Amino acid sequence: MPAAGRGTRLYPLTKVQPKEMMPVGPYPAIDWVIQELAAAEITEILVIIGPGKSALEAHLDPQQGRLPESDRPPWLSELASSRTTVYFTRQNPPGGLGEAVACARQFIGDEDFVVALGDSVIISENGAFARRLLDAHQAGQAAATLGVQRIARQQASSYGVIEVTEEIEERLLVSDVVEKPEPDQAPSDLAICGRYVFSPEIFIELDNLATDRGGELQLTDAIAALASSGKPVQAIPLAPEELRLDVGNFSSYGRAFVRGMLSHPALGPSFRKYLLKLAAHLQDSSQPNPDRA
Ligand code: G1P
Repeated sequence: MPAAGRGTRLYPLTKVQPKEMMPVGPYPAIDWVIQELAAAEITEILVIIGPGKSALEAHLDPQQGRLPESDRPPWLSELASSRTTVYFTRQNPPGGLGEAVACARQFIGDEDFVVALGDSVIISENGAFARRLLDAHQAGQAAATLGVQRIARQQASSYGVIEVTEEIEERLLVSDVVEKPEPDQAPSDLAICGRYVFSPEIFIELDNLATDRGGELQLTDAIAALASSGKPVQAIPLAPEELRLDVGNFSSYGRAFVRGMLSHPALGPSFRKYLLKLAAHLQDSSQPNPDRA
């Protein structure tokens, strides 16, 4: 799990606090990601942190605060019972997502592995999306399997965008990936949503890769190199009922917080009532203001 980025798009909130600790409803973003991976039965997680991010290490300590059972986020029981183990390594200074993934090389060895970005929360029943990516990766004997979501074209310049040649049931065969294209240059409206499965050959591409104009190693460029050398690269879209919440910038963060509240079993229903009342008041100011007694 890469979590080394500086989070500058959320300054000043993330000047001292890692963006992965930003609350998404009642839990920090990183808890949702750990929970998703644990639910998908991924039992060993390496978190790649950068300078100023040791709060993540403290937070993910299974002994933290010895919370009573009722206050524990669901993933904590998994960590406490050692079904899932979290390890840490450092990328210092951070030099791009590609370099962050390259930091995991020794940890991974010769196995296929999932990359889950710590600032992208995926809401899917019991980690089903991560599971589908892993199953499709095996079924397609792929070098890379990318989780993708449909976006409005104007948003293309915030994402890695795929070019698709063929669709085999749920699997989209990918011939190219472009990082943050201008909307009119985007090869499709399908964007990488922060989940990937790779075979270890991605490390060879990362070794051979040149840094981009900003001096960073882009994971997307390594995936494009895999595709252009004829290695099988494929993508799996989020299902209509699945959601990606992005903690990376203010407008998407606001929505992520609201969605996080709504999907909490205990807090969700009353928060929903509040939002409905607020929406009614915003549309028609003669309706009661829910923030006044
Ligand atoms: C990264 C990836 C991009 C992907 C995005 C999803 O960009 O480089 O391909 O679409 O995550 O969150 P970042 O948001 O870190 O700039």
